[in-house]
Amino acid sequence: MSMLKRPRRLRHTEALRNLVQENRVNISDLVFPMFIVHGEGIKREIPALPGQYHYSVDQMLEELKEVVALGISSVLFFGIPQEKDEYGSEAYDMQGIVQRAVRAAKKQFPKLLVITDVCLCQYTSHGHCGIVKKEEVLNDETLDVLANIALSHAMAGADVVAPSDMMDGRVERIRVVLDRNKFNHVSILSYSVKYASAFYGPFRDAAGSAPQFGDRRSYQMSPANVREAIKEALLDVEEGADMLMVKPALAYLDVIRAVKEATNIPVAAYQVSGEYSMIKLAVREGLLDEEKAMLETLTSIKRAGADIILTYFAKDMAAWIRRNPQ
Ligand code: PBG
Repeated sequence: MSMLKRPRRLRHTEALRNLVQENRVNISDLVFPMFIVHGEGIKREIPALPGQYHYSVDQMLEELKEVVALGISSVLFFGIPQEKDEYGSEAYDMQGIVQRAVRAAKKQFPKLLVITDVCLCQYTSHGHCGIVKKEEVLNDETLDVLANIALSHAMAGADVVAPSDMMDGRVERIRVVLDRNKFNHVSILSYSVKYASAFYGPFRDAAGSAPQFGDRRSYQMSPANVREAIKEALLDVEEGADMLMVKPALAYLDVIRAVKEATNIPVAAYQVSGEYSMIKLAVREGLLDEEKAMLETLTSIKRAGADIILTYFAKDMAAWIRRNPQ
């Protein structure tokens, strides 16, 4: 066997390894998801998501100072409503929690990119992502509600709306309603490829959004499918999505790659709550090194083809990048 070729040569020093590194996560790739609650002076750690918090609007503004100082330019807001009802009415209320948070954030940080999650599940008493009749999640009846939510977020000043409900046709309906109201500059980041995943467990605790009956398999995708992911992605491109999302990330790296190759718009991947808490709890048990596990998972998401990464590690990752300039 010839020993002329030795891959180890390029691993010999730190400088060489850096020189030939194929993928790295940039601070500008990161989006930091935040949970906003009513009230004042609240910064309460979420037990299911160690190191993540429920923020009232005033505390959220404090946190944003840190986020911005780290160089992170995008955040994603989730709202925890005061009250839930069958129709999720706080979701499109101009005094709703997300609308208030967006107004306050954009006022103090006009350059920060504010993305909002457009969905009903946190706001409905039944915890499903759409209008429900006889335990059936109705598609077409839900579209106008989603468009109303998106419009109210745009009116509050959101730069990007991100529908996460998985109803058919919602991107087009949202686009039409935004444009009709002169919000043609507001982008749509569609959760196009959202799987019915076990990894949302901690989020549902954090947002109080677990379905009260059944599960989400009649609207979210089967983890077994990848060709269907392309169908969803292409439909959303046709309907006017500006960016697509694959979610969760780590168990779906092949899907990120496939969607990236099948489309020509930016692809986002969401490292979801379960992926994050899994690492946090393993670290707590002394099983994993947190920094290395964060770096490895986020870099693998980038390697798979993600242009944008939504992650609860955003602040830690940004801090790491600043400590390790390359
Ligand atoms: C709302 C929504 C969910 C997540 C983002 N938007 C939960 C779900 O579909 O049950 C999950 C985010 C996470 O787990 O970090 N539809």
